[in-house]
Amino acid sequence: MFGKTILLLMLLWTQDSVKSLRLVELWVPTHGREGGKAFLSCNYVLQEDSLYAISWYKDEQEFYHYEPTHEPNTYNFHVDGVNVDTLRSKNEVVALVNLTQQSSGNYCCEETSDGPGVLVARRCKYMNIQLLPNTGPHVVGLKELYNLDDLVVANCSVPPSRPKALLEWFINDRPAPASYISGPWYRVSAERPDAAESILQLSFIATPSDFVNGAMKLKCQATIVPLYQKGEESTHYIASPFIESKDIQAIVISTLVYNWSAPFIISMFFFILLWVITLCCC
Ligand SMILES: *[C@@H]1O[C@H](CO)[C@@H](O)[C@H](O)[C@H]1NC(C)=O
Ligand SMILES: *[C@@H]1O[C@H](CO)[C@@H](O)[C@H](O)[C@H]1NC(C)=O
Repeated sequence: MFGKTILLLMLLWTQDSVKSLRLVELWVPTHGREGGKAFLSCNYVLQEDSLYAISWYKDEQEFYHYEPTHEPNTYNFHVDGVNVDTLRSKNEVVALVNLTQQSSGNYCCEETSDGPGVLVARRCKYMNIQLLPNTGPHVVGLKELYNLDDLVVANCSVPPSRPKALLEWFINDRPAPASYISGPWYRVSAERPDAAESILQLSFIATPSDFVNGAMKLKCQATIVPLYQKGEESTHYIASPFIESKDIQAIVISTLVYNWSAPFIISMFFFILLWVITLCCC
């Protein structure tokens, strides 16, 4: 960008028109949302002479023209995908509304001095229009309760977008291991062949380490850089009270003690009875 500025300065200087130079600052968002709006602005610094006009181009087609000394001082021209909101556009600011896929393109601002028609400066920036999903991601297949060794399987999908959404699964706020993940799969609909629904599957066998205090938090997150990030989170519980292996040992021991003690108590009873009878008889 600096290189271009220096080049422009040198160009203007060698053309001996340094006194009419204006520095242009162009603001065009790098990304827009289909159906949304964007503000573009082209700022200039007045020097010795005055501004003649600012012209706006999309892919080399002029769509907006501002000429301060004329009445009316703005004009707009039809260009596919470029809908200028004239009420919100003024001087060096242009408001674009109802952005569509066709609004993606190279936007240029061109300033001419009161020469007239002497080109002073030109700057261009690319604006990319994304189709964002109309909702957040949606999860199917999960149950509220799981037993240990149950298969946990779920699909996460996000409505059609362009570009494709990046889907991720998290277990208790940590990214799910790659071995738990299948997909992603993409589905393209007939109405929007340029967009795709994304699907990502999570599937694993529930183990004690998946539960924190008997609960497991699962989250699916969808991202389209830089305009969109949404997630769906749910909490699932262990179905039966969780038994630690040391508890299992304790149960086994107490069962053994019980099983051994019953015959022991019965035989002691008979032994004492025999002893009493023997005492009495003798
Ligand atoms: C934008 O879309 C709305 C709703 O469809 C419409 O009423 C409005 O005229 C459009 N604006 C422009 C500048 O195309
Ligand atoms: C998950 O998505 C895949 C791919 O579309 C599909 O084959 C599978 O049947 C889905 N499973 C569930 C539980 O919806």
